Order: sequence, then structure tokens, then C-alpha cells
Amino acid sequence: MMTKINEAVAFIKNIYSDKPAVGIVLGSGLGSFTTEINIEKEIPYGDIPHFPVSTVEGHSGKLIFGTLGGKKIVAMAGRFHLYEGYSSDQTVFPIRVLKFLGIDTLLVSNAAGGVNPSFKVGDLMIITDHISQLAPNPLIGKNYKELGPRFPDMSEPYKKQLIQKMKDIAAQKNIKLQEGVYVAVTGPTFETRAEYKMIHTLGGDAVGMSTVQEVITAVHMGLPVFAMSVITDVGIREEENVITHEEVLQAAKEAEPNFKALFCELIAQL
Ligand code: HPA
Repeated sequence: MMTKINEAVAFIKNIYSDKPAVGIVLGSGLGSFTTEINIEKEIPYGDIPHFPVSTVEGHSGKLIFGTLGGKKIVAMAGRFHLYEGYSSDQTVFPIRVLKFLGIDTLLVSNAAGGVNPSFKVGDLMIITDHISQLAPNPLIGKNYKELGPRFPDMSEPYKKQLIQKMKDIAAQKNIKLQEGVYVAVTGPTFETRAEYKMIHTLGGDAVGMSTVQEVITAVHMGLPVFAMSVITDVGIREEENVITHEEVLQAAKEAEPNFKALFCELIAQL
């Protein structure tokens, strides 16, 4: 594992040697955030040793290095999901590489289904906590002390200070934000009606197929995390309840202007 991380990092540093301060993972339908970046270098995942290659529509699959709000950043345009058939190790490999490239903060975004009855399609939700029990924990297996402890604390996976900063930014910009608990599932099926209800009963406000594995991996390595969901469908409506990937991508696209404004300002203020 450590050799693989070091080889990927060495390969990237050979192409782009600046140290990024911030890493951002762009979720489904949020890839056009990259237009905000003053791009210096793009590296397709397929070129990087040991990187898996993303297969999902709406994910282009590259690391983008550049500046935004006066900060050096690296964006992951496209991420890896368990439902694609990748192992947990593969799914979280890029997060480990970003840490060893030198990032100090990880920002994560995703498209998620709302299970809180007060949520509407297009809402943005600050993730204040998560429930990972419905997806495999990425730290199962040998623990690498170079990465972090065997039994990492998870009392504050999403840094309170970053959450407060984002709330202040949203208030200034008059953008409404929801907040809540994100529940991770493996997918690729969207949930049944009974499952959406169960997730709400468990304490979830939103459900999705990504993020939590990446966040656990980042917290294991001591990396401060901020994460936000775009609510792209509402799982617990009683009537028509057919959810499609196209609908998810479209809803994410519509939420993008606010998403961009908030994240650009957050990065500038880090
Ligand atoms: N469930 C799981 N993952 C999702 C959903 C959902 O309803 N919407 C977007 N990603």
C-alpha cells in the first residue's frame, strides 16, 4: 500500500511539483465546478500508477491542478465507487495520494437522495455527520501506521469550524442550506420505499453511494474534512417514486451555481 501511494505521488510530482493546499472531490453532475479553476495541469486517472479508472457517466476521471481564490488546489473530477466493482482500497486510494501530495483540507461533494421530509430537490445539505454501517468500512484489513491509528476516533468527521465557516458564507450570500446526516450505501440500486423509510428512521437525512469511505480515510490520516450533498431526488415521497440517474444529474446541474459560489468562497477563506 505505502509503495503504491509513493509511486503514484512520485509520478504526479514529476509532472506537477507544486504542493496543493486543498483537495476537492466533485460529485455526480458537479464536474463543471472545474471551470472556476485557473487550471495549470490535468492528469487523467488512467496515466497515474495504481489509480483505478472511473466508469460512471457524469465523471470525467482526472486530477486537475491549479489555483482558485488564491489557493493551490487539486480537484478530483470523477471518483470511485464500490458499486463499480472496486475494492475499498481502490475506492479510497486517490484520497491517500492527495494527502501525500500535501493537502491540508479535503472538501467533498456528492449527489444524494433526501430522506428528511422537509428536503426538496435542489437543496444543498451540509453533512454534519454520517452513518457508515450500510457500506463496508475502508479501514478493514491491515492498518498502516504511516496512515493513521488502528481505531480512529470519529466524533467529529466533519470539522465544526469548516461547517461554521460555510454557514457564515451562505448567510452572507443569502443561500439557504440544509444540514444533516448522510447515510452511505453501496448502490447501485436506488433504495426501495422501505429502505428510504428505514434510513430516515435510523437517523439519516440523505443517502448516497459515495463520500463516507473517502471521509473515513481522510479522518484516519488526520485530514480536516468538509462535505456537502446536493439533494437530487426525494426518496420518501409516497406517490410516484421512480428515480433515474438522468434526474440526479439534471438536479445536480441546476444546483451548481450556488454550489460553485459557496465552495469558491470557502476555499478563498481557508
Ligand atoms: N439514493 C442513493 N444514492 C443516490 C440517490 C438516492 O436516492 N440520489 C443520488 N444518489
